[in-house]
Amino acid sequence: IRQERRESIKEVGDLKGLDALRVELLGKKGPITQALRGMKDLPAEERPQFGQFANHVRDELQSAIEAKRDELKQAVLNKRLQEEKIDVTLPGKPVAQGQPHVIQQIVDQIEDLFIGMGYQVLSGPEVEEDKYNFEMMNLPKDHPARDMQDTFYITKEILMRTQTSPMQARTLEKHDFSQGPLKMISPGVVYRRDTDDPTHSHQFHQVEGIVIDKHITMADLKGTLQLVAHELFGDRFDIRLRPSYFPFTEPSVEADITCFNCGGKGCAVCKYTGWIEVLGAGMVHPNVLKIAGVDPEVYGGFAFGLGPDRFAMLKYGVDDIRNFYLNDVRFLTQFSKKG
Ligand code: PHE
Repeated sequence: IRQERRESIKEVGDLKGLDALRVELLGKKGPITQALRGMKDLPAEERPQFGQFANHVRDELQSAIEAKRDELKQAVLNKRLQEEKIDVTLPGKPVAQGQPHVIQQIVDQIEDLFIGMGYQVLSGPEVEEDKYNFEMMNLPKDHPARDMQDTFYITKEILMRTQTSPMQARTLEKHDFSQGPLKMISPGVVYRRDTDDPTHSHQFHQVEGIVIDKHITMADLKGTLQLVAHELFGDRFDIRLRPSYFPFTEPSVEADITCFNCGGKGCAVCKYTGWIEVLGAGMVHPNVLKIAGVDPEVYGGFAFGLGPDRFAMLKYGVDDIRNFYLNDVRFLTQFSKKG
């Protein structure tokens, strides 16, 4: 019987079965307990020997069960280790890495250029007062040129800025000329009530620039804009100025850059002129200085407003401005710096 029991312990396949067998063999109703209970019917001289033997068998079975339990536990553990094995030498899943938006890349480049020339970079509110967006820019309430910029009004006096030019007024108002000239650029988002199409977006970017000091001339403006063109597009791209009109500059110009498609020879993209318009600029209007408390008899300078969206479209041949605002990663990852 002892031998048989030991065999049955060996054959058990899992921990649950082993536990059942333990109860069966060593439990209250098991053979050992029964045998010990029946001991009282034996002659007194046989009892010690019988008891000893029964205890011995019980201990033996107990340790056999324990050994088997260890064996089964180890088997379970081995199985898990096998199943959950990780091969640390396999290549990992690539983690998607972000990058600056293509427009931001252009803005960063412009900022670096101007910081290198000692300009401050300032940002202003997108929800702006009529006073800064228009009035202090020499555009009083009834000025017809307000129609040039379809405006999202929030209240009569508060609007979504239509240009970054209000930052001219905000910085002029504060600048202390005894500390030196004012040299500032202000990049940011502007808004106009345009119907979105391939060349219009109700939200787009501008980088405003302004320099005010004594003895600033239009040649300084042209030289500065030329540097921007060279920096962003390369030395073979040139700038030309055409007379234009803005209420806050006099004289005003629009600046064209050498046409990308034809390298200046003329093609459909530039309407056979060899040039593409990229920004507005001019010498800051005396009224703008006066309204901000700066004496136009002493100080003067230039201002410009350029459009990074336009620059990005030209630089990368993007034919629909809306792509910049759809956040489609398939479009955006094309401008990854890693290539
Ligand atoms: N703010 C003007 C526009 O949006 C551009 C501009 C800026 C022109 C500064 C001249 C000087 O049309």
